[in-house]
Amino acid sequence: MYQWLDERLDLSRLNAKFLRKAFPVHHSFFLGEITLFAFVVLVLTGIFLTLNYEPSTRPVKIEGYNDPVPAAYASILYIDSLPFGAVLRSLHHWSAHIMIAAAFLHMLRIHLTGAYKKPRELNWLIGIVLLVLAIVTAFTGYALPFDNYALTATGIGYHIGEAAPWLGKAMSAILFAGELEASNTKTIPRLFSIHVLWLPLLLIAMIGAHLLLMVKQKHTQPKYAEKVAPGRILGVPAMPQQAVMMGVLFLVYVAVTTFIAGAFLAHPVEAFGPPTPNTPSVKPDWYFMWIYGILQILPQWDLKILGANFGPQFVGGILVPTLIIVGAMAIPFLEPQKEKQRYLELPSQHPRRTSFVLAMLMFYIMATLAGYKIDFLNANPNLSSGTLIAILWVLLIVAPILTYVISYILMKAAYRGREVELEFTGRASAADD
Ligand code: HEM
Repeated sequence: MYQWLDERLDLSRLNAKFLRKAFPVHHSFFLGEITLFAFVVLVLTGIFLTLNYEPSTRPVKIEGYNDPVPAAYASILYIDSLPFGAVLRSLHHWSAHIMIAAAFLHMLRIHLTGAYKKPRELNWLIGIVLLVLAIVTAFTGYALPFDNYALTATGIGYHIGEAAPWLGKAMSAILFAGELEASNTKTIPRLFSIHVLWLPLLLIAMIGAHLLLMVKQKHTQPKYAEKVAPGRILGVPAMPQQAVMMGVLFLVYVAVTTFIAGAFLAHPVEAFGPPTPNTPSVKPDWYFMWIYGILQILPQWDLKILGANFGPQFVGGILVPTLIIVGAMAIPFLEPQKEKQRYLELPSQHPRRTSFVLAMLMFYIMATLAGYKIDFLNANPNLSSGTLIAILWVLLIVAPILTYVISYILMKAAYRGREVELEFTGRASAADD
């Protein structure tokens, strides 16, 4: 069979060119692969959901409800009633969280080890676009169950999008096919096509480009490779060793995440019921919570320029995230290098970069904390809103600065003038900055 195919498709050449490529084996490289596994599971469970979901808000009469409910809502009830339906829906839900978290951690590992440097700047840029696309794809799926929770959660993002100067209303009208209201029958079909077709296609194309570029440019090598096999690629061939290892890891991944999905089911739509004019109290998911937190503590103002409003929604929801994304994109270009980066750098030996990453994580944690402002006020009736907002602002600004300073001082003190003993490598050079 192989020979038959080989004679027609020249498989041996393909095998020699691509499948014998050496893949370095290092635990931190699995983060990219976990992101990929989560995406594959999202596509597979997404196909199951699509086969049983009705992207429409036409009213349908179903058992247990006095009034007709939207067809989309009824189809989620139907999915939950199928054998393993609720678990597969839950697996889809959790895989979205895992994909975003794994892509974020993968980005941190690339940043902390300097793997973004020449020649991988382009792949860093593609990576940032992938992370943003993954988040937007998750967002477009929020409204699809069309329960009261779904519509309210989508509304938070809808109002932020609308706040983009001049273009906001037009952009929202394209994404949501008009205003986001329970009575707008066009919104669900529009979000459905974006969520199951356009964004997944874009993700597949970008992930393909990301992986091809990685194969072309060759993976960075763990630091110990410099000593063990200088100038050579240290790793296992893509076929069959790496492929078998990936296969086993994928099965382990599916087993663990299916267990999580079954143990912590995604919320049943009955818990909130079909959309009503009363909006339930809803918090955004963890990857949006920091933006929501900033919005909670920004003062309210109105600044009109050429007919556009530059209010707090714009600053907290659009300006700050855009500046962070643009700043992240600029990272590889702030450290231009002559030589190509072949080996990973050790975070402990780059105190400035590592402390910066820790400070940004602290910023994220403090902004997320601000998202709980209302809950803090409810729990402490004696605390005034003004005082709490002032405390949250101080934390948001001071905690990241302190994190940077303390971590920099500690790392400098721990590694200054000392050669560091490393696992497998014997010795490495001292801190460089
Ligand atoms: C959908 C999201 C993503 C997927 C599926 C993905 C997948 C992968 C995989 C499988 C690898 C090889 C294994 C590894 O090094 O971990 C890789 C490498 C890489 N990724 Fe990603 N990635 C994603 C997002 C990102 C993000 C957000 C960034 C950074 C902003 C990024 C930057 C890179 C770079 C620079 C490499 C080469 C690393 C090296 O040579 O050491 N990727 N990616």
